[in-house]
Amino acid sequence: MTQVQHHLDTPASQISNRVAVTQGRPDYRDSGLVFPVGFTFGSATASYQVEGAASEDGRGPSIWDTFSKTPGKVWNGDTGDVACDHYHRLDEDLDLMASLGLDAYRFSIAWPRIQASGRGPANQAGIDFYSRLVDGLLERGIKPVATLYHWDLPQPLEDLGGWASRATADAFEDYAAIVGTALGDRVHTWTTLNEPWCSAYLGYGQGGHAPGRHEPAAALAAVHHLNLAHGRALTALRATSTGTPEYSVTLNFHVLRGVGEGAPEAIRRIDGLANRAFTGPMLRGEYPADLLEDTASVTDWSFVQDGDLAAIHQPIDVLGVNYYSTATVRLWDGVSEKQMNDGHKGAAGGTAWPGSDQAVEFVEQPGPYTAMGWNIAPEGLEELLLSLSEQFPDQPLMITENGAAFEDEVSEDGSVPDVERLDYLRRHFTAAHRALSQGVDLRGYFVWSLLDNFEWGYGYAKRFGIVRVDFETLERTVKDSGHWYADLVRERAIPA
Ligand code: FCB
Repeated sequence: MTQVQHHLDTPASQISNRVAVTQGRPDYRDSGLVFPVGFTFGSATASYQVEGAASEDGRGPSIWDTFSKTPGKVWNGDTGDVACDHYHRLDEDLDLMASLGLDAYRFSIAWPRIQASGRGPANQAGIDFYSRLVDGLLERGIKPVATLYHWDLPQPLEDLGGWASRATADAFEDYAAIVGTALGDRVHTWTTLNEPWCSAYLGYGQGGHAPGRHEPAAALAAVHHLNLAHGRALTALRATSTGTPEYSVTLNFHVLRGVGEGAPEAIRRIDGLANRAFTGPMLRGEYPADLLEDTASVTDWSFVQDGDLAAIHQPIDVLGVNYYSTATVRLWDGVSEKQMNDGHKGAAGGTAWPGSDQAVEFVEQPGPYTAMGWNIAPEGLEELLLSLSEQFPDQPLMITENGAAFEDEVSEDGSVPDVERLDYLRRHFTAAHRALSQGVDLRGYFVWSLLDNFEWGYGYAKRFGIVRVDFETLERTVKDSGHWYADLVRERAIPA
């Protein structure tokens, strides 16, 4: 029985005791735990969050350029125009990664740098940039882990319907073939999509992310077209890559707790929308029947065409897992707009469908919290890894993002003693190790993020880096958590 199913069988009265039970467990603040030989320690970023150079060398506008320039959408009116200026500071950043001893670097490719309009021939300058990045990593002994899509859809494709339109999945397949041809001789791991949940539900349902649409039916069409894009891209990458890359996708799983009488039902519904809507087609070749029923008042899913599920259901070498916190849900009568605005990253992502008489609400989590207001729950990571390994026993896993935002302070001597982030990481590495020691096939761990960067709707207000970026001078300073992580990578064990 999976952990998720386990929640379904847990009487609501016991669920409220979960916190107390958790508090009886170890505090996850271990040191000395040794990771297996071959375990990959990396760090991650994404193109729009770090690159800058937003209109240089033929890069076209993405939906995040448009969104961030729309008043009121991003904190302080921040944009990714300059970000960390990684595009111009590539060598410095590569040296920084080498100085931390990283085994791997997870980055994303900006589609509008490769095809300004999302279609047509490749822009050589864009390819050259990523080629230099990949070569620079390999020269330093760092494995390139490349994500094709971390949310920066070319704006012209959005103008044609975006992910709500099947044409975007067609275009994505061509883009995948271009990058597979250009970089598939050297990339170590290809990742098709980062967190399609965010792209679909936050982008098209809740509207807190680009393109900022509020259309529940479009959100579900986007779910399917992203799944289709994933499958088609895998096929295109396999056909064009001349090296021996591994293939993956990154999902942000919801680790759910429930409160109230309807807790099992609330958990089932959100598990369907947030988790099984992606793992179903990608890993089992089908959409869950209960998801189709739950959403029947919104869409008849007629956008799923013959052959689509076979196209989506492709083998992957590793399943990428992003984990930050848990979520608590509750069932309640009566639909309100509120549900469209709650949950992880501030959104349940369209869980309240028009026409349904009962809805699911995301309720506040017990603390402590990070600066994002996300609860710190390392046991949730252990539980998630165990659950995935039970649901998909032959599927190796990789933590492709984990990390935390805190209000960092810079000391007089210039150092950044980010004790809270260090503690967060220690506890989550302990959780990962606990899963490993229970037999989970976990291959690696990427800390989010290498650099403080543009945190989507929060702009530069939230800092996730293990390296501080001064957004005035763009100077980089390794934080205490970064030094600690370098020790971990060197020792292959959690440092004291
Ligand atoms: C994830 C995103 C990543 C970053 C972290 C904090 O959902 O993939 O870009 O914003 O959250």
